[in-house]
Amino acid sequence: MAILTKNINDAKAILDKGNLVAIPTETVYGLAAKAIDEKAVKKIFKTKGRPSNNPLILHFPNLDSIFPYINSITKEVQLLANAFWPGSLTLLLPKSDLVPEIITAGLPSVAVRVPNHPLTLQLLHQLDYPLAAPSANPSGYISPTNPSHVEKQLGTKIPMVLDGGNCKKGLESTILGWNDKQEPTIYRQGVITKEDISAVLQKEVLINSPYSETLVAPGMLSSHYAPNTKTIISTNMDKDINQYQGLNLGVIKVHTSYQGGITIKKELVLSTSNSLNEIAEKLYAAMHELDSLQLDLILIEAVPNKGIGRAINDRLKRSATEK
Ligand code: TXA
Ligand code: MG
Repeated sequence: MAILTKNINDAKAILDKGNLVAIPTETVYGLAAKAIDEKAVKKIFKTKGRPSNNPLILHFPNLDSIFPYINSITKEVQLLANAFWPGSLTLLLPKSDLVPEIITAGLPSVAVRVPNHPLTLQLLHQLDYPLAAPSANPSGYISPTNPSHVEKQLGTKIPMVLDGGNCKKGLESTILGWNDKQEPTIYRQGVITKEDISAVLQKEVLINSPYSETLVAPGMLSSHYAPNTKTIISTNMDKDINQYQGLNLGVIKVHTSYQGGITIKKELVLSTSNSLNEIAEKLYAAMHELDSLQLDLILIEAVPNKGIGRAINDRLKRSATEK
């Protein structure tokens, strides 16, 4: 069992010594280590079973604290930082020599963000180094959005979880970089959308999602966010479900319950008011819950593909067993 605490001094003591602490953010829980300590960072890769070619995001208390770790700053970065930080936007920026190679997996850019969680922000303000933190799940599994998810998956492997309750956004941050032509490009969708970013930069923003041809981030290739139970995404649940009669079925519905005649073992409805924010917030917890029930199959209903719905559907696609 990891120690569960709300005390940031306890968390600091462990991090200072080069050990891992799971930290809350507004998106998902992170598995944090002192970013400038290579030995500490190695523990992240080992604990998650993460391939070493998959780079890590650095977390800072504010924009100013990032300057030593990057080589240059543009007007666009400043605009985005002002608009979205603290918050769930990660920026890919040219790294300085202070960033160890192990963090970026040899890439010239480093991923940085200022998370929007009061406890973790307080903690970051106390530290004189950034925190490297991927999501606090075993590589390839569903990200954790509350301390019990972390405990269940990594509790025997880490000394401490900083308890910040449920994550309010529920999906990993939007990752934005600039392509060869210096065009702003989203490499991972999140609750901060293309339209949100476009409005701030006053220009078109591209999406280079994991399902398109070119990839900058190796970690975005593989099957991610997947439950162990076979999972199918459906755009027409009432019809699709008929094929699975007789199985032990778990169903995640968007906003209305299933009314048809097939027997379901467990149904979860994400948002009776059909709010995309609420759906994003609750999705992973629903997947965790159903995955613990020893079902034959989980069916998840897709959402309309606009705004935050695109990020939700992106995660659904990646959670599906059959690609
Ligand atoms: O919301 C989040 O971003 C959470 C919380 C804990 O901050 N973190 C998170 O980290 O989702 P992780 O490691 O699970 O996902 C980070 C993604 C990976 O797909 C990685 O490949 C990509 O960011 N990434 C990290 N550094 C990169 C870099 N320098 N260039 C391109 N992609 C990078
Ligand atoms: Mg992850």
